[in-house]
Amino acid sequence: ALVEKGAYRHFMEKEVHEQPESVQRTLSAYLDPVAKSARADIKAAIDFNSVARIQIIACGTAYYAGCIAKYAFEKVAGLPVDVEVASEFRYRTPAMTPGTLGLAVSQSGETADTLAALRWCKGEGLKTAALVNVHTSTMAREADLMWPTHAGPEIGVASTKAFTAQLAALLSLAVAAAAQRGRIDATEEARLVQCLLETSGLIAEALLMDPDVQRITYELSKARDVIYLGRGAMYPLALEGALKLKEISYIHAEGYAAGELKHGPIALIDENTPVVVIAPDDELFEKTASNVQEVAARGGRVVMITDAPQKVPSLSGDAAKTLKIVKGPTCDPFVAPLVYAVPIQLLAYHTAVHKGTDVDQPRNLAKSVTVE
Ligand code: G6P
Repeated sequence: ALVEKGAYRHFMEKEVHEQPESVQRTLSAYLDPVAKSARADIKAAIDFNSVARIQIIACGTAYYAGCIAKYAFEKVAGLPVDVEVASEFRYRTPAMTPGTLGLAVSQSGETADTLAALRWCKGEGLKTAALVNVHTSTMAREADLMWPTHAGPEIGVASTKAFTAQLAALLSLAVAAAAQRGRIDATEEARLVQCLLETSGLIAEALLMDPDVQRITYELSKARDVIYLGRGAMYPLALEGALKLKEISYIHAEGYAAGELKHGPIALIDENTPVVVIAPDDELFEKTASNVQEVAARGGRVVMITDAPQKVPSLSGDAAKTLKIVKGPTCDPFVAPLVYAVPIQLLAYHTAVHKGTDVDQPRNLAKSVTVE
């Protein structure tokens, strides 16, 4: 069927705004809203007790979804996860432990490197799974297990709704794994499922940040370099934020773990290098807030995306004037990557619009890289 932009200026903008529905559709495939548990068919298709380790392989944005999933699987399910870009994995003779599940994450299900890595896992005799948005793709056919995302067709080259659908599926699978492995009881499973089922509404709330995000992007569009910082699962989200900005605005951007600031990137801080800090309120909030102070004290311009502006220590003098806080929805840290993906996408989008780039078809990029 022909997909049209409707009232939106770009497919990317439309796809960003579709996320309450695309996330909800995807969650419905994994979660039972009545039983408040992972769906029985999902649990019947795999026993995570027989999985010793998950090896995620992916490229681009799908790789960052995998990096975020690692935090969830290890935290709630106690299940070790390795994540690697497929182009490295396939050529380096990785050492696999028995019981490893090879999991390819891919919107298209056709990316050449990811497919080759999946085939390598099969060749090693590993059980394989493919988390794909195109359910008839080569990866979907070749993996032992196909986990669908229901983002619907994604036209914009820069991935948005496919990314959040991947997160929705992966976080749901982490809950299924935690329950099967006895890491959480039925009450905690119900709580996490409820958190996930509420994300669609929180994403709708995050979309209301649009004018606040847009307001700061004119300034960002003038920057030559932008740094993104985050801790915990917000660290891979910072990497995704930097990728999104690079892809569509052509501004150089780097994501860093906030704790690594002092090991290098702080040398780059000056009034010309905006720093985007993704810091929803969680157990690491105070640490990230102190990184904000470090940046501000060195004349850096900080854009802080948080639901806890009242907890940001007040700054003095010029630093107070340059700190910009964009308030986001309050949410459980488990689902924060899903919710805070939205302002990160909006930031890249509006910056690119200011720059006048071809947002849906950025130069040199392809939607699906099916040749090496
Ligand atoms: C290309 C696209 C990215 C995408 C990556 C992986 O680089 O421009 O948006 O994340 O491929 O694609 P896949 O279809 O495997 O998720």
